[in-house]
Amino acid sequence: MDAADLIWMNGEFVAWDDAKIHVLTHGLHYGTGVFEGVRCYDTESHGPAVFRHQDHVDRLFQSASMYYMDIPFTREQLREATLELIGRNGQRSCYIRPLVYRGYGTMGLFPLDAPVDVSIASWAWGSYLGDEGKANGIRARVSSWRRISPDSLIPQAKATGQYLNSILAKVEAHKSGYEEAILLDDHGYVCEGTGENLFIVRGGKIATPPLSSSLLDGINRRSAITIAQDLGYEVVERTISRAELYLADEIYCTGTAAELTPIREVDDHPIGTGKPGEVTRAVQAAFEDALHGRSDRYAHWLDPIPSHFFSKVAAS
Ligand SMILES: Cc1ncc(COP(=O)(O)O)c(C=O)c1O
Repeated sequence: MDAADLIWMNGEFVAWDDAKIHVLTHGLHYGTGVFEGVRCYDTESHGPAVFRHQDHVDRLFQSASMYYMDIPFTREQLREATLELIGRNGQRSCYIRPLVYRGYGTMGLFPLDAPVDVSIASWAWGSYLGDEGKANGIRARVSSWRRISPDSLIPQAKATGQYLNSILAKVEAHKSGYEEAILLDDHGYVCEGTGENLFIVRGGKIATPPLSSSLLDGINRRSAITIAQDLGYEVVERTISRAELYLADEIYCTGTAAELTPIREVDDHPIGTGKPGEVTRAVQAAFEDALHGRSDRYAHWLDPIPSHFFSKVAAS
């Protein structure tokens, strides 16, 4: 992680090395936090711009609300703080991590008396599954860990404690020589990766698991569905069985960290030709155009950093 200059904490810009919390922070013990992963791209059309910013802010508030957390800032304040942070850090492209967590003040499992703290950090971060993975595809395995079920946690919330589930699957995949894990839901249907949604292509048609399969309602999933439909592909949301992964012509995954990454092998079965296929390539190219501001059609997904935030760097 490349340190930036500043981190935003509870309404203040603090130096990177001063962004500290108490060891008795509630969220550190019980996983009582919610967060977002967001990216800013140095776009060709609008300069540095945050991709689908409002959607991420909205999901942050929804996640917080489902865990009974009242965020002591408005959506607009957090959006503005993020734009200013990126500008003041002088970053033209970066990964952004807003975090809302139960802070220091009370312990025990009843959380509602603990304060709700908010931080936003930004740093330079390349594609999560690697440039080589984005170009040629990654190898994945079906995890022995099932995705958290909707009757024990809230799959639609992006909550910190819930990520122990992804972490178990990720470590298992890594230790057994794969780059990513694919988790099944509690009914045994295909759900998602540890931090990505999944798409399969068969006979030119695209399918992706439905929200009822316990997945996170990924913002890039939504973008990839729109883009594929705009390219003329049929996209269906339906339950997908494990064997359909092996039988697919193409598979790809989407997420803010991973962007759009092809999957070339699952459980040692090559997918299609074992190389990213034609549909994946077409959707990936249009998706990259959207991220990097090369497409007028999706320009409304970009939230540009106002130039006066950058001028603060020059002035200070
Ligand atoms: C479990 C999980 N699924 C899917 C995604 C993809 O979501 P998005 O496209 O909003 O980044 C993420 C990343 O946030 C995730 O953590």
